[in-house]
Amino acid sequence: MRVGVLTGGGDCPGLNAVIRALTLALLQRVPGVQVLGIERGFLGLIEGHLRALDAATVRGLVDEGGTILGTHNRANPFDYQGRDASAEAMAVARREGLEALVAIGGDGTLTLAARFAALGLPVVGVPKTIDNDIEGNERSFGFDSAVAVVADALTRLRTTAASHRRVMVVETMGRDAGWIALEGGLAGGADAILIPERPWRLEALAAHLHQRMDAQGHALVCVAAGARLDDGDQHWQALPDGVARLGGVGQALVQALGARWPEVEVRATVLGHLQRGGSPTAFDRVLSTRFGVAAAEAVERGEFGHTVALQGDRCVLVPLSTVAGQNRRVPPNHELVRCAQALGALPG
Ligand code: F6P
Repeated sequence: MRVGVLTGGGDCPGLNAVIRALTLALLQRVPGVQVLGIERGFLGLIEGHLRALDAATVRGLVDEGGTILGTHNRANPFDYQGRDASAEAMAVARREGLEALVAIGGDGTLTLAARFAALGLPVVGVPKTIDNDIEGNERSFGFDSAVAVVADALTRLRTTAASHRRVMVVETMGRDAGWIALEGGLAGGADAILIPERPWRLEALAAHLHQRMDAQGHALVCVAAGARLDDGDQHWQALPDGVARLGGVGQALVQALGARWPEVEVRATVLGHLQRGGSPTAFDRVLSTRFGVAAAEAVERGEFGHTVALQGDRCVLVPLSTVAGQNRRVPPNHELVRCAQALGALPG
């Protein structure tokens, strides 16, 4: 049996641990299996860039950040350089004799995986994203590592905030979901946590920060990139490659709070790709390993058209069709929201 594996979308701590666990589990469980790594996500399937993976290739990968296969977040075979290249990708899969494809990625990659499954490719998905926003999956690997970075940043910024009597704003990633800001903000003891799912008013935030400054002489704000100021739009940045990306709400807060409150210095730190880089936490190494083994087991059983997922601390299989195009956001009455509310960290 020949099994292909690719990593698509943004990189994320734990990708290599999944590749390692998947490869080792397949080699052990499926007699005569050949594992083929597809380079740079679906681009490698379109262009036919594959290479053999074996026990030696994946040795020592459990703690290595990034992905040894490389990745791509704009190689959509159904809309590739202005044309539909899905037939080319299917032809490569046939030529390489792939009897299974394991696609490790976020909602974009899993949506593409669902489309290939509909074309008859035997696909198993593995959910990856620091944003933790994949439908049907309670925790994706990479999220814990990103939360650890946010918590560490807040801890470091507290000492400088206290020394200078400042308000320090930390802007996290997360797209339209507030999971990173919420969990990172709680772990780092933020005084205010601002997430896209929960409306908040600048007036209320300013009053809340005033009170915290009076009480402790400094304040920490953790804001998700997708959060909106009052009823305004999300903040987008146009980058030279022509693709707009969420970002800039932290600096917008500096301006807005500074205008109302000139006597207090407000400063912003954008954590950006620091949240995605480096070695995965122990939790993410274990979750990645579980997902890799669960994907190998699905291949062994011939259960295709699904993604592995974590539900109630069990690895399960969820149909790709129910995950595609969805975005798992923070429910308004989630326990973590209630926790943050109980601490007074969610100004209204
Ligand atoms: O989905 C993960 C993520 O890190 C988002 O939080 C963020 O908006 C996006 O990827 C950034 O992608 P890029 O690396 O292309 O800027």
